[in-house]
Amino acid sequence: MTTTTYDAASRLLASIPDRRGFGDATLIRQDAETVNLGGGNPDRELLPAELFDRATEDLFTDPGTATTVLHYSGAAGFDGLREAIGAHEGIDPARVIVTTGGAQGMALAVLGSLDDGDTVVVDNPVYPLFLRTLDLVNVHVESVPVDVDGIDPDALEAKLRAGLRPRAVYTVPTFHNPSGVSLSAEREARLVQLAEQYGFTILVDDPYREITFSGERPRSRRAFTDTDRAVLIGSFSKTLGTGTRLGWIGVPPEQAARYAKLRNRLDGQSSGIVQELVRRIITGPGYVPSLVKAGARYRQKAELLKGALRDQFGERIDWVEPEGGFFLWARLDEDVDFDALFAEAQRRGVTYQRGDWFAAHPDLAAPLRNAFRLSYCELDEASLRLGADRLGAAWREIR
Ligand SMILES: Cc1ncc(COP(=O)(O)O)c(C=O)c1O
Repeated sequence: MTTTTYDAASRLLASIPDRRGFGDATLIRQDAETVNLGGGNPDRELLPAELFDRATEDLFTDPGTATTVLHYSGAAGFDGLREAIGAHEGIDPARVIVTTGGAQGMALAVLGSLDDGDTVVVDNPVYPLFLRTLDLVNVHVESVPVDVDGIDPDALEAKLRAGLRPRAVYTVPTFHNPSGVSLSAEREARLVQLAEQYGFTILVDDPYREITFSGERPRSRRAFTDTDRAVLIGSFSKTLGTGTRLGWIGVPPEQAARYAKLRNRLDGQSSGIVQELVRRIITGPGYVPSLVKAGARYRQKAELLKGALRDQFGERIDWVEPEGGFFLWARLDEDVDFDALFAEAQRRGVTYQRGDWFAAHPDLAAPLRNAFRLSYCELDEASLRLGADRLGAAWREIR
């Protein structure tokens, strides 16, 4: 009798690494008493549930939508939603592919712009789940520092001049995850100029742009929206709720049909029901006011968290002032045992995302150990204060 070897897992499936650090639920204490400063969910109170309610009203009785929302929408999404996103973002709707959240947008951007063996440059610190998306392809990862004005084009240019030839550069330009900073307009233009000169694609992941503390409409990203060297990645998770699972990518016009085909091969299309709900909401009068209200409230919560940290840590802690988004990237200016601090904090009932979990490469982790990504987005004021108090107590304990 001959035996045939049987490999149930493909090479890709077998090689997907376990989560380490960020997103590894086994490292984070999650009981009802723990104050979780580590999350990225919007505040439930600020999600415009009433807009969903209204948008649902005649969804299944209006003859214009009743049948269409229950049918296939086409891989790129409903035209009406693509037009609404195009109008909101100031881009040609023909470039818009509706996705199942920013996560799928990142996956499509990676699969559509990188081949095995390519080099990709990412932010440092970086949104770690982008690195996980890179597990889909076999690429070499380089990084460029992010400072107070976002990813540093001088540092990128130095690497390019030294011979680095990335196929793509990934950055979160507005209210950066984790560091909260925003890319200046000047740097944005320089990145595009470098992309043109050295021939790479910029993967622009911008899910926090609408969450501005000032209530002003977000700064435009004209250099990114007007070039065919960028793939824009958007999401409604932070404004309409992570459970919405709707996002979009803006791709170069000549590649839109191919991206739609790629997306079709993965999951066909996004839910027609959700697409129509989101179209109704973002074209309705309540959407922008809901963003303004949320931004103002997140500002209050950020202020409270900063004050509570100041009370606990005095001048030993600092941060770049956030102007929007969900996170305070706080840094301690003294060297303590950060493993012990994390353990003690969790023992005392507070958890957070450790700075070193955002390193683009393990070699870059050490300088990030004194950083904490603290989320003010989801928790109420009392919990934020309690979290800061417990963190301060843990710090005093292990000093
Ligand atoms: C920088 C960044 N990109 C993309 C995403 C993806 O979010 P989603 O898949 O919920 O749209 C997130 C969510 O936290 C994020 O912070």
